[in-house]
Amino acid sequence: MTTYERIVILTGAGLSAESGLDTFRDQNGIWAKHNIEDVATPEAFARDPQTVLDFYNARRRSARHVRPNAAHVALARLEADFPGSVITVTQNIDPLHEWAGTKNLIHMHGEILKALCAHCGARKPWEEDLTVDLVCDTCHRAGGMRPDVVWFGEMPYRMEEIYDALGACDLFISVGTSGNVYPAAGLVAEARAAGAYTVELNLEPSEGISMFAEAIHGKATVVVPAYVAKLLNS
Ligand code: APR
Repeated sequence: MTTYERIVILTGAGLSAESGLDTFRDQNGIWAKHNIEDVATPEAFARDPQTVLDFYNARRRSARHVRPNAAHVALARLEADFPGSVITVTQNIDPLHEWAGTKNLIHMHGEILKALCAHCGARKPWEEDLTVDLVCDTCHRAGGMRPDVVWFGEMPYRMEEIYDALGACDLFISVGTSGNVYPAAGLVAEARAAGAYTVELNLEPSEGISMFAEAIHGKATVVVPAYVAKLLNS
């Protein structure tokens, strides 16, 4: 196996599926039960904020009661034991990467255990339900507290850092994502353009399968630990 020096890992909802969190586009996924336009856009928050907050309150409660699985743990081990650099870019808003020990982490779609004031932009750790009458303790205005997550139509976070890391990486690993949502789905093309070897670890072929040099399909808790072991023993 080739030895690599700089790895970028992209993860999606499939990574947390075996921890008990729903994915988005699988048969009983989140978007089979909810309309994006009602719960995950700035327009929905302006129109009916409590419905949006209730949707994320339920997801926050679920996220607080699950644990990292063997795939999260293997990725944290890769970061800890790999002699070169490892950066993990996640689309997931759950805290399971951190709870597994991953440190060099970018939440490009935000974090469910953080709140953001839409009035003043203040961010703070948040574990309880959000309600429309909450007052921000920075600007002292009510009605602006929202989950610190990126809604459809909003720009993902830390994109410049992500593109810099992709421009320098020699191995790009994509785990548990369907490749439906941009700009995340376009990151493999950026890595390829930088000359990186690209690997997909997913239950089934993603929309972007043709962009990957290699694909290993199966459950994350099986294929991720095996691939990490191969990398660390090479
Ligand atoms: N192991 C590995 N892969 C899995 C598993 C599993 N146990 N279970 C499901 N998968 C795969 C599915 O085959 C699918 O390809 O994970 C992928 C999940 O895809 P999506 O549900 O589309 O989730 P994701 O790609 O993370 O969505 C991207 O879309 O809705 C928005 O902002 C949201 O971050 C999210 C973004």
